[in-house]
Amino acid sequence: MSMTVEELLTTTRAVRKRLDLDKPVPPEVIEECLDLAIQAPTGGNQQGWRFVVVTDADKRKALAEWYRDAWGFAYKNQGEDAMATARPEIEDQQRRVYRSADFLADNLERVPVHVIPCILGTLPEGTPAWMAASFLGSIIPAVWSFQLALRSRGLGSAYTTLHLAHHKEAGELLGIPETVTQVALLPVAYTKGTNFKPAERRPATEVTYWNTWKQSRI
Ligand SMILES: Cc1cc2nc3c(=O)[nH]c(=O)nc-3n(C[C@H](O)[C@H](O)[C@H](O)COP(=O)(O)O)c2cc1C
Repeated sequence: MSMTVEELLTTTRAVRKRLDLDKPVPPEVIEECLDLAIQAPTGGNQQGWRFVVVTDADKRKALAEWYRDAWGFAYKNQGEDAMATARPEIEDQQRRVYRSADFLADNLERVPVHVIPCILGTLPEGTPAWMAASFLGSIIPAVWSFQLALRSRGLGSAYTTLHLAHHKEAGELLGIPETVTQVALLPVAYTKGTNFKPAERRPATEVTYWNTWKQSRI
């Protein structure tokens, strides 16, 4: 699939309902996209990234159950209206996100590949913000590159963090050492169709301040 850089950057969406749950994903495609992902920057060039790719059905089911538990706690129990009315200016968009996220929570185990990006090390309580920023900033760019690479090959994903409420159990299930931090879980599959659109966003000029922060523009 060929697309311009602009198209790739503006149409890589969180894909949930349009993940093709029935089409197998060859391991080579995941490996190729991860090869692209690890060209991303890391603090001090540490390259402490690790990626746990989960295709085993029983393991995906366990991850999905922990994910659903957190979804229920964080969103489902509050309901769609809570998410919508919290951001009245984009209520419709928020309702769509809620329904899409609810679908993912119901079907996560059916997504053929779960990728859990990890980084070597942990964030002890009280870690200063600048250290936390360096730590997470050394894996998140790679995750986004991975998502872009997937999109360029007709696959989709969504950045999710809810399973982290059960990171200990997930770590035990997958044999991830306690000295390693999981940062997300990306459900990955081919997409049904590839025509995704740019999302509505506030213009960058409204959220950009040149030289001095402008309080009135929040
Ligand atoms: C840090 C972070 C955590 C997220 N966690 C979840 C999640 O747990 N479940 C989910 O369905 N989507 C999750 N998302 C995806 C967002 O809901 C999504 O990016 C947002 O609604 C904007 O949609 P778009 O990416 O298609 O523009 C997360 C995104 C980020 C950046």
